Formats: sequence, C-alpha cells, structure tokens
Amino acid sequence: MHPIKHYQELISNHFHQINLVNEPTNLYQPIQYILSLGGKRLRPVLTLMATEVFDVDCKKALAAATAVEVFHNFSLIHDDIMDDAPLRRGKETVHEKWDINTGILSGDAMLILAYQYFEEYEPKVFRDLAKLFSKTALEVCEGQQYDVDFETRDDVTIAQYLKMIEYKTAVLVGAAMKMGAIVAETSEENANLIYNFGLNLGIAFQLQDDYLDAFGNPETFGKQVGGDIIENKKTYLYLKALEFSNDSEKEQLLHLFSIQPNDNTDKINSVKAIFNATGSSDATQKAIQEFTFKAFETLDKMDISDDKKILLRTFGEKLMNRDV
Ligand code: IPE
Ligand code: IPE
Ligand code: MG
Ligand code: MG
Ligand code: MG
Repeated sequence: MHPIKHYQELISNHFHQINLVNEPTNLYQPIQYILSLGGKRLRPVLTLMATEVFDVDCKKALAAATAVEVFHNFSLIHDDIMDDAPLRRGKETVHEKWDINTGILSGDAMLILAYQYFEEYEPKVFRDLAKLFSKTALEVCEGQQYDVDFETRDDVTIAQYLKMIEYKTAVLVGAAMKMGAIVAETSEENANLIYNFGLNLGIAFQLQDDYLDAFGNPETFGKQVGGDIIENKKTYLYLKALEFSNDSEKEQLLHLFSIQPNDNTDKINSVKAIFNATGSSDATQKAIQEFTFKAFETLDKMDISDDKKILLRTFGEKLMNRDV
C-alpha cells in the first residue's frame, strides 16, 4: 500500500481532469461547479484504499470511486436545498447560485452519471457494484427523510437519531469501502468486515459533522455555522442536552427549538451555551471516539497485514481530529 496522500492526490488529479460541461450548460455547469469545489474526497479515497488492502491496484477502482464521489455531491446539492443552506465548501450552494429547480435537475443528472461509471466493469463486478449502490442510495433517501421528519418532532430518541445518521451518512462510507473490496474480488467475509469498519467510521463522522456545525470555526468550516440549530435539527448534541438539562435549561432549549427568528444570532449562541453547560458537547466528543474505536475493533478482526491496519487506523484518527 501507499501513504494516504498518494490516494488523495490520485483522486484530486482525476477530478481535475473531469470535464462534464456540455449542452445545455444550465444542466451541466452546476455539476462541474460542485465537483470543482473539491471537499475532502473522503469516500473515493476509502474506495481506492480498500482495493489495495486486498492487494489489487487501486487504479482498477477509479471508476467506482468516481461514482461514489459524484453520488455524494449529488446528495449535497439536494441536501442543501432541503436544509436551506447558503454555503458549501466556502462557496455559494448550487440552489443559491442558480435556483432550486436547477439544483433538483442537476442533482438528478448526477445520480445517473454516477451509475454510468459502473459500466466500465465486467458483468459480475458490475452487478455487485450496482446492487450495493442501489441499496445504499435508497437508504440515504430514507435517512434524509428521517432527518427532515425529526425537525418537527420532539420525541426523537438517541437510538432513532443513530439509525438516521447510519442511513443518511454511514452506509455510503461503508459502501465506498465495500466497493473497493468488490473491485478487488475478495471474499464476502472481507467485504462485509470492511463495510462495517466504514459504517462505524461513518457514524463517528456524522457525529463530528454535527459537532462542527455548532462549534466549527466560521472562517474555515466552509458551511454556515449554526445551520443545524437554525433548522431545529435533532442532533446528538441536542438530544443529550435535553437529557442532561435541569428544568430551566430544558424549558429554554425547547423554547429555542420552537422559534424561527429573523436574526438567528441569539438563538445559536444560547443553544450552544446550553450544549456546553449541560455536558452534551463532551458527551458528543466521547461518542465520536467510541464509534471510531468500534471501527478499529472491526479492523482487528480482519485478516490483513499490520501495516494496512495501521494505515486505515491513521485515516480514522485523522477524521476524528478534523476541523472541516
Ligand atoms: C458532508 O460530507 C455531508 C455529510 C455526510 C456530513 P463531507 O464532510 O464529506 O463533505 P465534503 O465532500 O468534504 O465537502
Ligand atoms: C448530510 O447531512 C447527509 C447527506 C448529504 C446525505 P448534513 O445535512 O448534516 O450534511 P451537511 O452538514 O449539510 O454537509
Ligand atoms: Mg445539510
Ligand atoms: Mg441535511
Ligand atoms: Mg451537517
């Protein structure tokens, strides 16, 4: 295997070369725009790494990795519409720069484009990839619907929240890795173990995303800080704050999550103060660690060399300590 940087450069160079601009430009330019904004490229890097974990040249997985990243970017365009988000990767979101209809259709086209990348593979691998992808994509939709449903509910449990983030986010991280295993044509057992590694890493990743949404640095975060609070998202931070709060904090938090002020500054600051005072921020940090360690336990069960385990572990640790 190579250092993580090698896979990151490969993907980054690959996306720099991709030019999807075509007629009509109002369909394709937004696609090129969102893909050119970069991002961490976490999922395609995991696909490439998973292939090499099973001793096959990662270049074979480039098409599958591209499919995963294009799908992820499609989900971001639609997610930003659903979350009414103004900023993505430090730039205007697609529906702000163009309009909502453009975001819907360019997103739809990206979903189809993602599937087309699988056409590079032979029938057996193609079938396995497409099957996993369809299952995953449907789960992402289910997770996204729960996320939106929860905004207006006040009886969401931690278990329901964890299921929601597993579906909207973690299954794609797991699938990204399993695709690498499928391309490498390794055993079913290996493919499932690496899927589980990705799944737990993905849960930790979304917990961290929720944490950063409230506590990230607005200068570097690239998204609107406090966006989840504005949208009354039932995150781990919120649910744990409710659990740990005294009567007056609880009343205040419930009230704050029932109002929609024109200026959200006070709402965001008050909610963050409660997250900190109740210990919910610390509990979230702890949960991030726990799910990351759970992922590492799956790694230990895998029959691969130690240097490969160390590389995947390093990747997980980096994710846990990110600030973007
Ligand atoms: C954002 O994903 C959406 C989530 C599932 C949390 P990333 O944080 O991977 O976004 P980019 O691709 O790096 O911008
Ligand atoms: C996004 O969750 C999950 C998907 C895009 C499927 P979020 O709504 O938390 O992602 P960000 O914070 O906007 O990137
Ligand atoms: Mg969002
Ligand atoms: Mg969302
Ligand atoms: Mg988020």
